[in-house]
Amino acid sequence: MMKYNLSEITHLIRNRRSIPPESYTSRKVHREMVELVLTNGTWAPSHGLTQPWRFVVFIDEGMEKVRQALPALYRSETPAEKFKQAKYDKLSARLSAVNVLVAVAVEYDKNGKIPDLEEVEAVACAMQNMSLTCTAYGLGSFWSSPSFIYSQAMASLLGIERGKCLGLFYLGYVDHAWPQGHRKPLEYLCRWETGA
Ligand SMILES: Cc1cc2nc3c(=O)[nH]c(=O)nc-3n(C[C@H](O)[C@H](O)[C@H](O)COP(=O)(O)O)c2cc1C
Repeated sequence: MMKYNLSEITHLIRNRRSIPPESYTSRKVHREMVELVLTNGTWAPSHGLTQPWRFVVFIDEGMEKVRQALPALYRSETPAEKFKQAKYDKLSARLSAVNVLVAVAVEYDKNGKIPDLEEVEAVACAMQNMSLTCTAYGLGSFWSSPSFIYSQAMASLLGIERGKCLGLFYLGYVDHAWPQGHRKPLEYLCRWETGA
């Protein structure tokens, strides 16, 4: 039987934090780390083992493509009255600050047996594996989901045929102390029915 250090894995789970790219240093994240992060992502569960996750990694010079494309998509996919120049500038600054960005998408099951919702759930599990792996490496990670990522134009950019982008996954070395999180105590969220 396999055994794991429960105390360590509990710390890992509870220390996973969403750390935005504003907190990253300029130190480059290497391809090998990204590969392990994504491979661990693929070990998430999926109904029917459809493995619906798709990743497009923009790295080093490849970042230029998203530095051009994503702010432009934000502009073109946002109704004029909702467009905010500050958001556009923040997105551009984030994309300039990192050497790698992973666009994470769902590709729905071709034979339509699995509900789309379950395919999305599976990709969310993959995202969790990815952020836990980053945490183990001491890398910050951040799931960003601005509205324009759900557009057909974004899916086309990623080469997704029947599905959509679900997140921009940032990762990088963190320039400050690891932040603390907080959660509601379980008793607010869980009811036990013991039959007593
Ligand atoms: C589906 C999903 C989408 C998210 N999108 C954003 C986002 O667009 N912007 C953001 O600041 N955080 C986003 N987050 C991160 C949450 O804000 C974060 O998980 C939450 O505040 C709890 O913090 P923690 O992850 O450090 O525990 C997203 C998280 C999930 C699960």
